[in-house]
Amino acid sequence: MASPWPATFVPPRGAEPAHLGGVRLTDLAAEWGTPAFVLDLAHLTARVGQWAEAARVHFAPERGLAGADVYYASKAFTCIAMVELARDHGLCLDTASGGELAIGLAGGMPAERIALHGNNKSAGEIRSALAHGVGRIVIDSLDEVDLVGRIAAELDVVAPAFLRVTTGIHAGANELISTGHEDQKFGLSIASGAALAAARAVVDHPSLDLLGLHSHIGSQVLDDAAHRLAAEALLRFRAEVARETGVLVPEVDLGGGFGISYTGEDPLTPDEIMAALSESVRTTCVDLATAVPRISVEPGRHIIGPAMISLYTVGTIKPATLPDGERWYVSVDGGMSDNIRPVLYDAAYRAALVSRESTAEHRRSRLVGKHCESGDILVKDLGLPADLRAGDLVAMAATGAYGRSMASNYNLLLRPPVLAVVDGGVTEWVRRETIADVLALDPRAG
Ligand code: LLP
Repeated sequence: MASPWPATFVPPRGAEPAHLGGVRLTDLAAEWGTPAFVLDLAHLTARVGQWAEAARVHFAPERGLAGADVYYASKAFTCIAMVELARDHGLCLDTASGGELAIGLAGGMPAERIALHGNNKSAGEIRSALAHGVGRIVIDSLDEVDLVGRIAAELDVVAPAFLRVTTGIHAGANELISTGHEDQKFGLSIASGAALAAARAVVDHPSLDLLGLHSHIGSQVLDDAAHRLAAEALLRFRAEVARETGVLVPEVDLGGGFGISYTGEDPLTPDEIMAALSESVRTTCVDLATAVPRISVEPGRHIIGPAMISLYTVGTIKPATLPDGERWYVSVDGGMSDNIRPVLYDAAYRAALVSRESTAEHRRSRLVGKHCESGDILVKDLGLPADLRAGDLVAMAATGAYGRSMASNYNLLLRPPVLAVVDGGVTEWVRRETIADVLALDPRAG
């Protein structure tokens, strides 16, 4: 059972509150307010380093491979400091919109280390990506072959094109985050022949250069079996494209989706993931008698998820009567606007009292937010101490991925800041939204 708490998290002892990054969480809440995302910077930095190292070691030419790149999936969480950290450790960046691309560029990620994804990129996004010279545009449909080709021709450049293909492999913790099977919106199907038709169209287009193939099978995948199968399917398809078009693409991108511990699951390490993938790539290429491609992976959640917690202040507490007893509804000062995942995916999390230790018995509880919506649930079923009271701080573990990045302004709540803690110091990575920010969007505000 792997702990979902970040590496420097120290639980409360007696009256001493929990610490993260050497900072007492009560001090942090007093100075910065709640709700807040608190980022264990030492944990994140170590994880980024592990990914860079695993790619370097397992895909080294001495092992019969051709190198690998780690594209941090910025959809999981992005801001300039995050991009700088990824850049400084030699990572590349996966972006899925003009906004993510803009943050990537603002964070100083060299354009050639940025990929642009999306199943429905706008002409403006494609133009901006090509004008900045991104390293890859991942084409998702036949329509996009035309669109990217046309814009590249207008700009008088040759677009570095990848094709996103669906391998038919179904993986992911929830239907809404599975992407490799046939009946979903992403990619070009290998089985239907659409992928091969698109490969031909790219190869034939004078303004497109077919550099690689891409597959992303789904998210929160905890073992390596599905990724290995997808790698094999992708490499087989690569050999077929080579036979049919004469182009053996130099790169293959295996996507992200590597799972983490939310409630005690045992995830793979970057080293284990890259060892398994390198083995699949090498043996499949030997079988197929094709040269090994350069590989990329796109972890998002695995990098940022475990490094952050959400910190909330407890407000009202009241019981609901059930046929078999009571359930205590503990309301905090955030909710579905800063973490939609429990409602959207039925995602489970761990939460705990962090402002003090309690020896009181735990009672059946539900952690809920402050939105005008009964589905506004953060943790459906958990035990919380019977002496919990308003003003206590509760933290939720492993909220770094798709928490802040999927946050909304529902009920015009203000989106929380991201505060990086390390060695007893706090740095604001993303500031708290203000009423002034909200009013600034309203042209009639006085
Ligand atoms: N690459 C591509 C092409 C993707 O579509 C995704 C995620 C990733 C990489 C990164 O996946 P990760 O390693 O973070 O699992 N909002 C959902 C996840 C949706 C992911 C969509 N694509 C969630 O909160 O679980």
